[in-house]
Amino acid sequence: MELPSFLSHPLWFLCSVVLAVVLRLQRKGSWEARKCRADLTGKTAIVTGANTGIGKHVALDFARRNARVILACRSRERGQKATDEIKKETGNRNVHLSILDTSSMASVRAFTERILREEKRLDILVNNAGASGLPYAITPEGLELTFATNHLGPFLLTHLLLGLLKRTAPSRIIFLSSFMHGQGNVDTSNIWGKNLEKNRYNDTYNCTKLMNTICAKELATRMQGTGVTVNSVNPGIVMTEAMRNYSVLLRSIFNIIGFFFFKTAEEGAASTIFCSVSEEAEGLNGKYIDSDCTIVLPSEKTQDPAVNRKLWEACESATNLNTHPTK
Ligand SMILES: NC(=O)c1ccc[n+]([C@@H]2O[C@H](COP(=O)([O-])OP(=O)(O)OC[C@H]3O[C@@H](n4cnc5c(N)ncnc54)[C@H](OP(=O)(O)O)[C@@H]3O)[C@@H](O)[C@H]2O)c1
Repeated sequence: MELPSFLSHPLWFLCSVVLAVVLRLQRKGSWEARKCRADLTGKTAIVTGANTGIGKHVALDFARRNARVILACRSRERGQKATDEIKKETGNRNVHLSILDTSSMASVRAFTERILREEKRLDILVNNAGASGLPYAITPEGLELTFATNHLGPFLLTHLLLGLLKRTAPSRIIFLSSFMHGQGNVDTSNIWGKNLEKNRYNDTYNCTKLMNTICAKELATRMQGTGVTVNSVNPGIVMTEAMRNYSVLLRSIFNIIGFFFFKTAEEGAASTIFCSVSEEAEGLNGKYIDSDCTIVLPSEKTQDPAVNRKLWEACESATNLNTHPTK
């Protein structure tokens, strides 16, 4: 088949190359993990949902920096595969799998009991595990699945590990938020009622990311003076398995557009790694870090102290933290 004549013009070719280079470059932020010399020898890090996507690249980076890395994954098979791959690629033998399902508060409690029994320190906690496009469902513990997976599980996990993080301070907690958090809503008049109604369900992922951002901010305020810092990050739009719960059509469109415009999982991990290990992020607390590793203001929906406090208290009671206080 012959190309239309204008497509064979050298100018067209040159424009295509320039466009491809520009698109490729705009995916990269100004901060590059591989150029950062931070060493994590003697330090321990937990990364949830570390068997694939952003979490796997974060765990890989920590292992390269000689940390003791715990991959907190729900699937033994997928988790073990990632653990073995990271060990092989980095030569770091101090990489371990521990089973955690963030949608189950019982699993979160069992995981943290194991960590508190076995670990002497915890320098970095990355709350990465998350899912979008899940169908509406109530877990056996009576919690809505997406809220439990993306928000309540990480909320409880963080609380149960706070004592260890404080004893290890300076230590860093990172929550994976999203640029979509501004599209979410938190209705404090009836948080677990109205927000969970089935007909509002399309909104749920965004609500959980808004909740992540609000609770990270609230926890940061509560951690002031302890040496524990808490920040949330936006990884950008990243080509991972994140679209696995959507239709083939949507996944195909995402993949085609993503090939040109979206970040790779390694690039998407940069803002989390920046927040976790960089000198620049030392002491940074209560901030929202954008995908290019700069501090930006999150949505104004995160700025109302009364709403934030109410959400915090609702999360405490949904996870029974007020009846089973942290150590
Ligand atoms: N990709 C993006 O464009 C994007 C944009 C903004 C924010 N984020 C956030 O970035 C984080 C990582 O996403 P990703 O893009 O890397 O997605 P991904 O490739 O789908 O990876 C998600 C990880 O979370 C784990 N996970 C899901 N539900 C879990 C549960 N109940 N318990 C324990 N682990 C669970 C998955 O484990 P399995 O493999 O066993 O399912 C997987 O390891 C998420 O919090 C997401 O909201 C992603």
